[in-house]
Amino acid sequence: MNLQTLPIILLVVCHAQAFQYAQLAQYIDDHQEEHVEALRDWVAIESDSSNIHKRPELHRMMEKVAEKLRLMGGTVELVDIGEQELPNGQMLALPNVVTARFGSDPGKHTVCVYGHVDVQPAKLEDGWATDPYNLTDIQGNLYGRGTSDNKAPVLAWIHAVKAYQALSMDLPVNVKFLIEGMEETGSNGLDAMILAQNHTFFSDVDYIIISDCGWLSRRPALTYGTRGNCYFYAEVEGSRQDLHSGVYGGTVIEPMTDLIGILDTLISPSGKILIPGIREAVAPLSDEEWKMYQDIEFDVDHYKNKIGVGQLMYNNKVDLLAHRWRYPTVSIHGIEGAFSDPGTKTVIPAKVTAKFSIRQVPDMDPATVKKQVTDYLQSVFAKRRSPNKLTVTMVIGAKPWLADTQHPLYEAGKAAIKRVFNMEPDLIREGGTIPIAKTFQDVTGKSIIMMPIGGFDDGMHSQNEKISRYNYIEGTKLFIAYLNEIAQIKTSV
Ligand SMILES: *[C@@H]1O[C@H](CO)[C@@H](O)[C@H](O)[C@H]1NC(C)=O
Ligand SMILES: *[C@@H]1O[C@H](CO)[C@@H](O)[C@H](O)[C@H]1NC(C)=O
Ligand SMILES: [Zn+2]
Repeated sequence: MNLQTLPIILLVVCHAQAFQYAQLAQYIDDHQEEHVEALRDWVAIESDSSNIHKRPELHRMMEKVAEKLRLMGGTVELVDIGEQELPNGQMLALPNVVTARFGSDPGKHTVCVYGHVDVQPAKLEDGWATDPYNLTDIQGNLYGRGTSDNKAPVLAWIHAVKAYQALSMDLPVNVKFLIEGMEETGSNGLDAMILAQNHTFFSDVDYIIISDCGWLSRRPALTYGTRGNCYFYAEVEGSRQDLHSGVYGGTVIEPMTDLIGILDTLISPSGKILIPGIREAVAPLSDEEWKMYQDIEFDVDHYKNKIGVGQLMYNNKVDLLAHRWRYPTVSIHGIEGAFSDPGTKTVIPAKVTAKFSIRQVPDMDPATVKKQVTDYLQSVFAKRRSPNKLTVTMVIGAKPWLADTQHPLYEAGKAAIKRVFNMEPDLIREGGTIPIAKTFQDVTGKSIIMMPIGGFDDGMHSQNEKISRYNYIEGTKLFIAYLNEIAQIKTSV
């Protein structure tokens, strides 16, 4: 080789590979208003998946997503995932799932971005300060239903791809999208679709990215775990029909008394779970984990004031966060069949059904939890020697999800956050359940990361949901940077 040309060759090669982040970020800044308008356009569609009367809107929403991706030159499919059965037996078409592909270079990694464009219900009368379907900018916060959960993050991903295209830069990785419209009601039909496409859509996917959660503070975060949920019905049945307490009271053992009695044995007054075996199954907190919790930016007083309670169960950050994310809880939600209207009614309900759930964590297992809870409640009930009948059923058994924070996917995430925000991210978990993460993991076997861009105070599912322009726009830059970092991941041969 002619040594004189070597530096030139190296220069050329380096130049071609250099990641022009500054230009891409500038593009996003220059197109901020356009991106806000795109969000306005999506928020205006009342894609409430829980309201069957809004189903046409949901179909329109999926069409809109597909159209946007098509206009960008993606290979787009609207995947029919069948129908759902309504309580009255009627069948209703589910919204199509949108899949799209940008690039199919076998020499590059392939990521699949998952997101959803359906929303929780919202009405102005619920206590919104603005029309929930008319995006409103108040001091840099963009208010509207579905802004943070999950329309802005989905758009941010799309705009990240668009920025590369607009500047005629090659995408550093192949990007696939999987956008659904039933997340808020339990992702009906999606598990089957993922299973059906395991050897087609997912065959060349290396990594799955979910951006459907939020930061914990003003510091960017990467999420590496979610709790699962086991939801129970405990039904106590007594007389054939409801009884008058004046006429029959004192002559029958009341189902409600039995039910309250057994519910009271689930947890101690200080919140300790009393069901045998549950606490023993929880993975112990390691020193490393303790240290990670120590480093997280979190204000206990602010948390306390936000929820408006006089006292929390734990006053130090580590215990509080650990109990929010990595320990199980029992919550009692309600009693069906109980009298709950205003006024006084002197009824003895004949049948009452308690609803409670256990947020579960590694290494708990739903099937085991089901047995532990059923056996325990039946034994407690047996001690009461009641003539009534107790039936315990588990109606939801969603597993927890946990990722390895040392995985290259997370290291790449940390590097992208460093580039865009110039800081280290908080490594956090979600106390809630995102069952789809576990499905992706179990079915496809691919590595998954949750990279949120929502703010800690966005009010997802609540009144006055918003996302800040800052999170939306800087979040788009984060996704741009992240695609480049993923491209650097070395695959072992
Ligand atoms: C949205 O709100 C703005 C400001 O209140 C108003 O001018 C506009 O007409 C509204 N748009 C729709 C579609 O309701
Ligand atoms: C899905 O495909 C992957 C290979 O890409 C395989 O390892 C996995 O076992 C498949 N899952 C199911 C449920 O068949
Ligand atoms: Zn969501």
